[in-house]
Order: sequence, then C-alpha cells, then structure tokens
Amino acid sequence: MVKKIESLYTKRNDGRAFDEIRPIKVELGVIPSAEGSAMFQTGDTRAIAAVRGPRTFHPQHMQNPETGILRVNYGMMPFSVWERIRPGPSRRSEEISKVSEWALSSVIDLSGFPNTVVDVFVQIPQADAGTRVAGLNAAAIALAHAGIPMKEMLSAIAVGKIDKTLVVDINKEEEDFKEGEGSTDIPMAITSRKKDIALLQLDGKISPDKLKEAIKMGKKACEKILELQVKVLKEINNKVENE
Ligand code: CDP
Repeated sequence: MVKKIESLYTKRNDGRAFDEIRPIKVELGVIPSAEGSAMFQTGDTRAIAAVRGPRTFHPQHMQNPETGILRVNYGMMPFSVWERIRPGPSRRSEEISKVSEWALSSVIDLSGFPNTVVDVFVQIPQADAGTRVAGLNAAAIALAHAGIPMKEMLSAIAVGKIDKTLVVDINKEEEDFKEGEGSTDIPMAITSRKKDIALLQLDGKISPDKLKEAIKMGKKACEKILELQVKVLKEINNKVENE
C-alpha cells in the first residue's frame, strides 16, 4: 500500500486554492514622461516599471554596434515593507536587476537599434513577496507599451513549496513558514509563444519530481497572467486607433 504523504500546510493563510493567484490589477501609462510604463499588482505586492530609450549609449566604448543593450534597475521603495528599506542599491537589488535583465533580454529584439541602450526602471512601492516576478510582469508590459520590438511576451510567477504543499503566487507569510520542510520559493518567467523558461530560481530544497510539478503549476498560472497582459495592451492599441 502506498503511504499518503501528509503536509503540515493544508489550508492557505489567505483562503486561496493552492493554484490560485492573488487578485491582479494591471495599468498602463502610469508614468506619462516615460516612453512606456505599467503597474502590475498581485495582492499586496505592487510593481511599477518605466522604460526610457532607445537612446545613444554613453560612454561610447560600451556601445555595441550590432545591437542595442537592455539595462534593468530594480529597487524596493523605503516604505514598501514595515521595516524601512535603506534607499540605494544593495546586493539583493543588484542580483534581481541582473536576472530581470537576462530574462527580458531573451524576449526583446534591439538589433534595429545599434549603439543604444534601453533602460527599464522597476520600483516596488509595496511588497508582500514575489516582487521580482511582479517587476518582470510590469516591465514586459512597459517594454511593449514603449514600442520596443518583442519576439514574445514574458509572464512571471513565484511558486512556493510550503512544507510539502505546492502553492502558486506565494505571499510573505507563506514564505516565512518554518515548520516541517519550511518554505521554498521558486520564481519563474515563461515566454508567451515558445513557453521557454526565461528565469528559474530556487531558494530552498525540493525533489526533481516536485520541481517539475512546480514548473507545470507556474506555467499554468503564467497563462492567466499573459491573458491580462495582452488584454491591457490591446485596450491601449484600440484607443490609439480610435483617436
Ligand atoms: O520579492 P521576491 O520574492 O522576488 O524576493 P525575496 O528576496 O525572496 O523577498 C521576499 C519578500 O521579502 C519581499 O517581497 C518582501 O516582502 C520581503 N523583503 C523585506 O521585507 N525586506 C527586504 N529587505 C527584502 C525583502
């Protein structure tokens, strides 16, 4: 007889189903002075992304004559969590900026803009876990809004393993779960057409089989996020056409 594996996490702290995303809000054009901008909110985690460029890259010796370059700058605002965050870069913000840059670079095409740079500024005014994935969702929409050529859209989600239970769109209380196997955070980003994984990070411990299951859950959740991203971008296109 197969012994059933019991998990200590049987019910989510906010009443969601295990595969349920938090309520999502998406807004375009939140920063009118930027070429493109978007806000992406899931529950109490909110990200704002603004795009500047393409502009000529200075210093000149860093320019690439073959293609434009993407730069991402991620930061949490000082009052985004209860304990004040020190303003300015940290090791964490630099890591998140880099992984976001790599993920977004895989879906944009700056070959038509040699020697230029496109800057994406991601700010987190409110954080309740999953800020890097919320930032990626906002940034992908903002890049499309700015008219940057994109091969595909990008959608991102953090899947969690709380003790032995997999949950989609992990929140901070779940991330802080200490009993049993504790909490494992698995942020991931999926491309819209090829369904490639553009970002996959793992903070904790998980079996290979469970990881496969987590990716499957994440991919499904990304489909729902993609629908909302496409919907908001279509609305703006329709508006422009009707003006
Ligand atoms: O935000 P994300 O899950 O992508 O990254 P993390 O480094 O795993 O951070 C998880 C959460 O911890 C953040 O979303 C914040 O809610 C919180 N946090 C915090 O309270 N203070 C920090 N200095 C960094 C993160």
